[in-house]
Amino acid sequence: MSTATHTTSLFSRNLRKQYPVAVRGEGCWIFDADGRRYLDASGQAAVVSIGHGVQEIGRAMAAQSSQIAFAHTTQFHSEPAEKLAVRLLALAPQNFQNGGRVYFTSGGSEATETAIKLARQYFLESKQPARYCIVSRRQSYHGSTLGAMSVSGNVARRAPYAPMIPEWGHVAPCFCYHCPFGKTYPECNLACADDLDAFLRANDASSVAAFIFEPVVGATLGAAPAVDGYTARIAEICQKRGILMIADEVMTGMGRTGKPFASEHWNFEPDIILTGKGIASGYAPLGAVLVAPHIVEMYEKGSGSFMHGFTYQAHPVATAAGNAVFDCLEAHKLFDRVTPAGETLRKALSAVEEHPHVGQVRGLGLLQGVEFVNSKASREPFPKEAGIAEKIRQTMLEKNVLVYPGQGCADGTRGDHILLAPPFVVTSQECQLIADALQYALSKVFLT
Ligand SMILES: Cc1ncc(COP(=O)(O)O)c(C=O)c1O
Repeated sequence: MSTATHTTSLFSRNLRKQYPVAVRGEGCWIFDADGRRYLDASGQAAVVSIGHGVQEIGRAMAAQSSQIAFAHTTQFHSEPAEKLAVRLLALAPQNFQNGGRVYFTSGGSEATETAIKLARQYFLESKQPARYCIVSRRQSYHGSTLGAMSVSGNVARRAPYAPMIPEWGHVAPCFCYHCPFGKTYPECNLACADDLDAFLRANDASSVAAFIFEPVVGATLGAAPAVDGYTARIAEICQKRGILMIADEVMTGMGRTGKPFASEHWNFEPDIILTGKGIASGYAPLGAVLVAPHIVEMYEKGSGSFMHGFTYQAHPVATAAGNAVFDCLEAHKLFDRVTPAGETLRKALSAVEEHPHVGQVRGLGLLQGVEFVNSKASREPFPKEAGIAEKIRQTMLEKNVLVYPGQGCADGTRGDHILLAPPFVVTSQECQLIADALQYALSKVFLT
């Protein structure tokens, strides 16, 4: 892609870049206006689960839109929103059954905002007005609005707005490859989980409303799953102090890691789950906040209403898309494909893992990350300025393979990785094409 300024009226992500125009999608492929086709190895940003171009989704959205496209949630509920809420709760951990509720948003950042405010008001309803802080982890990402940024620990994405965002406290991530304590699992005895306890001892724990974290860290750490025992220790710490637990599953929810929600890998029962991305597989802007029954009850017994809202929450056409995506996932048993397809992808990547500058391939299901290091032995990252992840992305693009690059996984600033999160319909040939393109990029970027 050239750096020439292009004639566009869009305020582009990068104003120096020229973007191809996407006109069509089919399965794992995207076609642009010039007829070039791209293999979508990252489901764009871990969004597309059922694949591009599934005609039934558009038909369902058109049908809903021709019946009733919009009705404001201060006055009406809609059938697709009601139906999707029931279906989502049925997938959720046990503690959401019998009285859980769903708050639909138009994406992940809105879901985070909603959860932050929901937790705060919960403590007003329960007559604990001193609780308002939301503790989160370093090297995390929960969205781009100011509230969501305040809980995010992604250094680069926060930096320009730092003076504008409150700091409620960030604790260590659970990330063995670059353990912030220089320890090794399991001898570490979960020092990263205990960092939350240490934070609460050192600060005013009675002001803390909730702890938010990604069970598998997507964009910022490149698919780093929690280790066994981590979520249980977190639950112990939070429950002891009456702090709500928010699992941000915007990226990992809706089957991406091989379970409907990643929390279920560890039988973890958060009080609030956020989801987005795969919920409508990109066919509509949609996110959701799943709320456990005890929170619902507190609101019911208290003021009865949540002082929060978006014009487009629980949008009938967006939730109709969500239901149609759900139908497709069920009809083609796509959740069941994720674990074996993830194994196929890992197998295809096994040659890549041997490369001297590939530090680790990690992840769960179809959320895989590849981290590039300067030294395999010391896990030393490349300098930020070397821009390795972006170079890998550009070189893979020469082979028409799209990936999601990231920087900062090692220490917040340094550390290069790419995310691989193809649609659940990815074939073994497509997995091989992804691996071949990465092998090509490695040999070109590192001249091996
Ligand atoms: C874990 C997580 N939370 C929240 C968000 C924000 O979602 P959105 O971009 O839909 O606002 C993202 C987006 O990448 C995410 O990965």
